[in-house]
Amino acid sequence: MSPVRSFDSLLLQAQKTRIRRGHHRSTQVLQSIWCDLASNDYLGLSRDRRVLDAGHKALDEHGTSARASRVVSGTLPVHTDAEHSLADLTQMPSGLLFSSGYMENLAVIAALGRAGTRILLDAHVHASLHDAAKLCAADVEFFEHQNLDHLRELLRHGDGKPTLIVVEGVYSVLGDAADLANLQMLARQYEAWLVADESHSLGILDKECGACSQAGISGADNLIITSSLGKALGPAGGVVLCPETVRDYLINTSRPFIFDTALSPVNAAAAAASARIVGTEGERLSQQVFESAQCISVALGTSQSAGAVQSVGIDGTGNSSEATEENCGYL
Ligand SMILES: Cc1ncc(COP(=O)(O)O)c(C=O)c1O
Repeated sequence: MSPVRSFDSLLLQAQKTRIRRGHHRSTQVLQSIWCDLASNDYLGLSRDRRVLDAGHKALDEHGTSARASRVVSGTLPVHTDAEHSLADLTQMPSGLLFSSGYMENLAVIAALGRAGTRILLDAHVHASLHDAAKLCAADVEFFEHQNLDHLRELLRHGDGKPTLIVVEGVYSVLGDAADLANLQMLARQYEAWLVADESHSLGILDKECGACSQAGISGADNLIITSSLGKALGPAGGVVLCPETVRDYLINTSRPFIFDTALSPVNAAAAAASARIVGTEGERLSQQVFESAQCISVALGTSQSAGAVQSVGIDGTGNSSEATEENCGYL
């Protein structure tokens, strides 16, 4: 019989490994921030007067919490208002709010990735999508980052299972934009659906307010957009933008939706207000982001990326530090 190891020794070992690899994280409060290059409030909307007013009003009317799941008694007018506003903004048929972007990704992938289905993910998608893939019962495969030939190869060797292709609009770590128009065409050719996480592109791309609108694929019947609300829009929360049938399916089957207290009314109201501001002023606000991004890329000598995310390789290889099991300290 092997010797018993306690959790104490396991955690100590994991901590030592993290420190040795320089992966040690902390949650300390930063005392003074002179120049914030790390937060996701790309358009500054988390402190916009109109967004704050909408949040205050919802707080006074509904309190701090929705007090129940959406499918029990937690659905409030601010939720449906935000869902309509976000669907209008992205030109998608419908929207469904979640308590976070992480939850919304778990929800979509776990609900659609049933036994007998297949999920093909870009190797660089966000950790929440990697975790979602582990939760689901589908056959899961990864294709090389942005390599559509590799994806096509995997699609060609499919065995007729309903297939989801999962990408990000603008990649959260590398800052490059997905070729969404061709991805959607490829998905269509193989009767697959495309899931695009727009957390880092919603609200901050040129004339259109997101990468899918920009690529001209918004509203497609094989497209699902997921997005954290905690980036350009300012509040916390997540949204899935999708055909009505998918919305209905998620409401009825998605455990992170059914068994979770609804998004707080403050965040829902703030999201609706932000969506309306982005709809009318997004282009001007985005311009400031592009100008700042250009200054930073010139100063750091990096190539300018597609949107708000400026990627700087700090390990000398240009490799990013996406959350893998290894760097999450599970070892
Ligand atoms: C691409 C992407 N998807 C999802 C999430 C999760 O969003 P949230 O912070 O709202 O849980 C993030 C957050 O970092 C992200 O970058």
